[in-house]
Parts: sequence; C-alpha cells; structure tokens
Amino acid sequence: MITASEQVRITDVGPRDGLQSQKTLVPTAGKLALIEALWSAGVPAIEATSFVSPQAVPQMADADELMPAITVPAGRSLSALVPNQRGLERAVRAGCREVAVVLSATETMNQRNIRMGLAEAIATARDTLRDAQAQGLATRAYIAVAFACPFEGHTPTERVHALSTAMAEAGAGEIVVADTIGAAAPSDVQRVLQTLLQSLPAQSLGLHLHNTRGMALANAWQGLQMGVRRFDASIGGLGGCPFAPGAAGNLATEDLALLCAQAGLETQIRMDALVRAIDVAETLVGYPLGGCSLRWIRQNKEMSI
Ligand code: COA
Ligand code: ZN
Repeated sequence: MITASEQVRITDVGPRDGLQSQKTLVPTAGKLALIEALWSAGVPAIEATSFVSPQAVPQMADADELMPAITVPAGRSLSALVPNQRGLERAVRAGCREVAVVLSATETMNQRNIRMGLAEAIATARDTLRDAQAQGLATRAYIAVAFACPFEGHTPTERVHALSTAMAEAGAGEIVVADTIGAAAPSDVQRVLQTLLQSLPAQSLGLHLHNTRGMALANAWQGLQMGVRRFDASIGGLGGCPFAPGAAGNLATEDLALLCAQAGLETQIRMDALVRAIDVAETLVGYPLGGCSLRWIRQNKEMSI
C-alpha cells in the first residue's frame, strides 16, 4: 500500500558502487564535484566511497582524503562501505559517521569479494557492526547476491532470511537486500520480501537494485508496494561490480525519483539539478549515462516534482 506524501529515502551510491568498476582513475576533485552536485539536487544520502584494500579496488584508494573533504549539508547523511574492522578504523579516522558492512549470501561470492568464507564473513560483519555502534555510528548491512550469484546461481530465500535476521540482531540499522548482478524480477522481490517481512519491519529494509535485465524499476515498484521506503540508486545508472561478472549499472536515481514523484511519494530530489549531476558524472567517466527516463527529464526538467 502506498500513501501519497510518504517519504522515500534514496541513497545515491554512484560515487562508490558507480565509480568502483571504472578502469580510469577518477581524481578526488572529480568525485567531490559529483557529490556536491548530488547534494545540490537534494539527494538525502550518499555512499561516497569504500575503505577497502587499494589493491582490491584501486578506484577507492583515495577514501582517506575524499571523506574529510566532503561537506555534509544539515539533515543529509554520508556513508562509506567498510569490509572489515581495519576499514572501519580508517572510516572513523576520516570523520565518517555512517558505515555499511557487506556480507554476500553465498560462499563463493564472499571469497571473490572479500576473500573470506561465509562463516568468517558473518563473524567479521558482526564484529565490525559491534565496533561501529560502540562508537555511535549509524550502520547498514548489505546482503549481496540476495537473489542470484554469478558463481552459485539461484540464492536460497531461507539463506537471505537467516543472514538478514543475523545482521539485524547484530544491530544493523538497515538491512540492504542487494540484487548485485541484476537478476531479480518483481516476483523474486515479492518472494524474498514476503519471507523477510515475517521477521523484520519494512522500515528496517532497503533494496539495492541493478538494471542488467531492465527490471530494476519494476523491482523498486514491487518493493514500494510491500512497504520498503529505502532504496539505493546511482546517478545516471552508473555502476557495476568488479567482482561479480555480468553486473551492469545500478537502478538510475533519476528513474526512481521520477517513479516516486509520479506516485506522490516525497524524495526531496529536484530533477533540474539532478540532470546537472548526471552531466558531471558523464564528464568523469567520459561516456553517456542516463536511466530510461533521462531523455524525457531533459526536455521537462522544469516540472515541479
Ligand atoms: N583497507 C586497506 N587495507 C586493508 C584493509 C582495509 N580495509 N583490510 C586489509 N587491508 C590490507 C592489509 O593490511 C594487508 O596489507 P599488507 O599486504 O600491506 O600487509 C592486505 O590488505 C591484505 O590483508 P588481508 O587481511 O590478507 O586481506 P585480503 O587480501 O584477504 O583482502 C579485503 C580482504 C576485505 C581487505 C579485500 O578483499 C577487500 O578490500 N575487498 C573489498 C572488495 C570490494 O570493495 N568489493 C565491492 C564492494 S561490495
Ligand atoms: Zn551494487
């Protein structure tokens, strides 16, 4: 059920998930320009970077410099992904007040992504969440490959349920159910959410969707209808995961913001300024970006939504 004027919180993960797979290094100043453009468009939350191994993801090697250089407008939130306690320490030192831990739902994906088996990954996520909360940080926990894994195929719903409740019990403020390779259809989102909602309130759930099969927006709509009000999206659909073969771009922020606006849901995002952020992102990566709705938005960006 959707009631008009309800708030939907969109976290733009473009500077992290969007840029991490770019081969050409984007300078810190360029990342700052993108983040500034996103704030100017009213985006309420940004995942700016990740404090991961610079060998694993060279594009995120400037996290320690980038994070303290970002000015956060009042009422907005800035977060970073941390794979372990070392990442959390770096994030705290850089002034970060919200972190996301990452746990994949399959053994192989954990190995490929963070070089740990599932059991070790659960323990690491728990320890990192505990330490983050002890320091007063807000937390999110990604459950990656929650629908399908590029190495193991279909992900069992019960596994996603068990990992999500484990992360909620470990204190994660938000459980982000991630379709890392964009394999889900709305029927899959319905199946997984139905199971999760047996144990977890809709307010604690977020969806992180990729558009590999063109279904990200339909999947977001399914989530909205089931009460989810937190979504990750990426400016211009920028994205992909270097460790998950076949992962294409994220759900585009402009498509989700437009969907919400047309459904009467409040996102605080201004379309005219969001188009400028897409222009900045295009300059950084050097090729055209944009979700399904961009052409229409460019022609109608003065609309009041
Ligand atoms: N930040 C920076 N360096 C880190 C680190 C962190 N969070 N965690 C570990 N390291 C360093 C270690 O200090 C060590 O450095 P050294 O070789 O100079 O001694 C090196 O990385 C290896 O440490 P180890 O614990 O053996 O890590 P690993 O090689 O098994 O890698 C991760 C584990 C988690 C650090 C790495 O796989 C990673 O960063 N993955 C992130 C992947 C990602 O971002 N995926 C996309 C987002 S979901
Ligand atoms: Zn992603």
